[in-house]
Amino acid sequence: MCGIVAYIGQKDAKPILLEGLKLLEYRGYDSAGVAVLTDAGVEVARAVGRVAVLEDKLEQQAKSGKAFAGTLGMAHTRWATHGGVTEINAHPHQDDQAGIAIVHNGIIENYAALRKLLEEKGHTFQTETDTEVLAMLIGELYAPSEGVDLEKAVQAALREVTGAYAIVVMCAQEPDVLVCARKGSPLIVGVGNGEYVVASDASAIVRHTTQAIPLDDYNVCRITREGFRTSDLQDEQVSPKVMQIEMDLEEIELGGFTHYMQKEIFEQPASMRNTLRGRIDHNEGKVVLGGVAGFAKELVKAKRVILTAQGTALHSAMIGEYLLEDLAKVPTECEYASEFRYRNPIIEDGTVVVAISQSGETADTLAALGEAKDRGALALGVVNAVGSTIARETDAGVYLRVGPEIGVASTKAFLGQVTVLTLISLFMGRRRFMSQVECEQLLTELERVPTKIESILAQADEIRKVTEKYVTKENWLFLGRGYNYPVAMEGALKLKEISYIHAEGMPAAEMKHGPIALITDGMPAVFIANRGAQYEKVISNIEEVRSRGGHVIAIATEGDDRIGNVAEDVIYVPDIPEPLSPLLTVVPLQLMAYYAAVARGHDVDKPRNLAKSVTVE
Ligand code: AGP
Ligand code: GLU
Repeated sequence: MCGIVAYIGQKDAKPILLEGLKLLEYRGYDSAGVAVLTDAGVEVARAVGRVAVLEDKLEQQAKSGKAFAGTLGMAHTRWATHGGVTEINAHPHQDDQAGIAIVHNGIIENYAALRKLLEEKGHTFQTETDTEVLAMLIGELYAPSEGVDLEKAVQAALREVTGAYAIVVMCAQEPDVLVCARKGSPLIVGVGNGEYVVASDASAIVRHTTQAIPLDDYNVCRITREGFRTSDLQDEQVSPKVMQIEMDLEEIELGGFTHYMQKEIFEQPASMRNTLRGRIDHNEGKVVLGGVAGFAKELVKAKRVILTAQGTALHSAMIGEYLLEDLAKVPTECEYASEFRYRNPIIEDGTVVVAISQSGETADTLAALGEAKDRGALALGVVNAVGSTIARETDAGVYLRVGPEIGVASTKAFLGQVTVLTLISLFMGRRRFMSQVECEQLLTELERVPTKIESILAQADEIRKVTEKYVTKENWLFLGRGYNYPVAMEGALKLKEISYIHAEGMPAAEMKHGPIALITDGMPAVFIANRGAQYEKVISNIEEVRSRGGHVIAIATEGDDRIGNVAEDVIYVPDIPEPLSPLLTVVPLQLMAYYAAVARGHDVDKPRNLAKSVTVE
């Protein structure tokens, strides 16, 4: 989902900006651009496609004497919302009179009305975007001779707009100033020594400094080489919260893998150990969650839990619903954040709302969280990105601690979410109805999961071969029951989003209510058929598919000597108590999606049309 990098300091800006864009590429985009303040004024270059295309263009321009030499600049990767994917619509955008240039993540919802007003004032637009309207509005309001400098003009313009934005603005008439602002789209100011790097996320900053200020909604930050000032839209000074960026570059590098998604799948034993570290007390048979300890009583006394998220995070929430009702005996429901936020939800006393998000910036999840808080719910976060907006907006929370997840298709973060939801369920269950013995048994089994995942990863080549048998099939089904019905949904999403094969996940029993009509000869049907309460029912569902010509790929429990009689292919996972089984059964599905995308020659880490963090609605 688009990206911003800006720099002001003593160094040549162009290489810093291009390097920053490459670190943000994983977020997903369709075009890119850069602006540098040079001796000739604001110079801009834009290109459709990958950052490499922009880089080539800049190299060509350097050869013809346009070096883009300067120590103040900004760059952008665009994920188009208003206006086609064209070079002219790529950012940065400029106004037509004051020498303003802007990059923007988000949507200016009232851009059409503003554009009409500005056209009536004689401004002429070059692009179809909403962003150009903001550039033109800032230019229109900019009046340095009347005391309306760039900072004031940005504040005034943002008072007029509705929508979401993260912006950086520069002006040829103020060659030593960058102004940035945010509402609804993340923006972080990296504070260096006499230099600043502003970016959409920490991965583009950490190479320069680990001191950073995550801007809050309605913050405006004016930056010069001598320092910075943070204010609100009414120019009231705001004291910034400086945070320590915890990620290190080693975590962001590929480390010998071919793709980030592959690295992150194989990282899961280690990342899960990080998620669990320090959170299990075997003496008491209890879970220790410092991030929610202050609300232990409200949690233990909760009358209802609502889990809300989007995409893969929603699938972990669906598993969380089973876990909380099964292990903590608390009524729980799982809701698409995009639905929850608009359906006027009923929130009674004793309701806990849990927002689950890898990025901590998903617009719908953030909005659902706001709705829940406004209605008096205790708001918890299950988030990966430290210091992200959702993490900052919740009353308390539990970080995944799986490290930066670069691949657009979420894998280790999903495992981290399910692990944390298991911990929260045991945290509550042990303080409600669960005995120490039962809790200790499950905690011991939970700590064995990373080693069991390693045994599944050791089968990667066999899983690749099974996948390649079916990779030409254009329609797959994923089926599971109980805890593994959400895993079937997740397996389908993984396959869809990176191999572009159409796939549908559903409860295995649901197939008979319509989807069975889809079964054709040789159609792959992936069944999660691990040892569990509904195993026999799953076997029946498998027979129903086979009798209609479907080819069954079963995820089964080691030692199952029946499954081979009913499935064309079997991938075995170690035995495990059913509530913990999603932590294992999802791994073969992640690998299948990965190998299908590789076999089809797709860009695994940057799949078409997708963004790593959907910060627009
Ligand atoms: C997951 O593979 C997808 N990339 C997507 O569904 C993602 O899970 C969803 O957009 C939610 O993102 P979040 O966890 O950062 O909120
Ligand atoms: N809405 C702006 C556009 O379409 C910005 C999109 C983005 O966030 O990249 O250009």
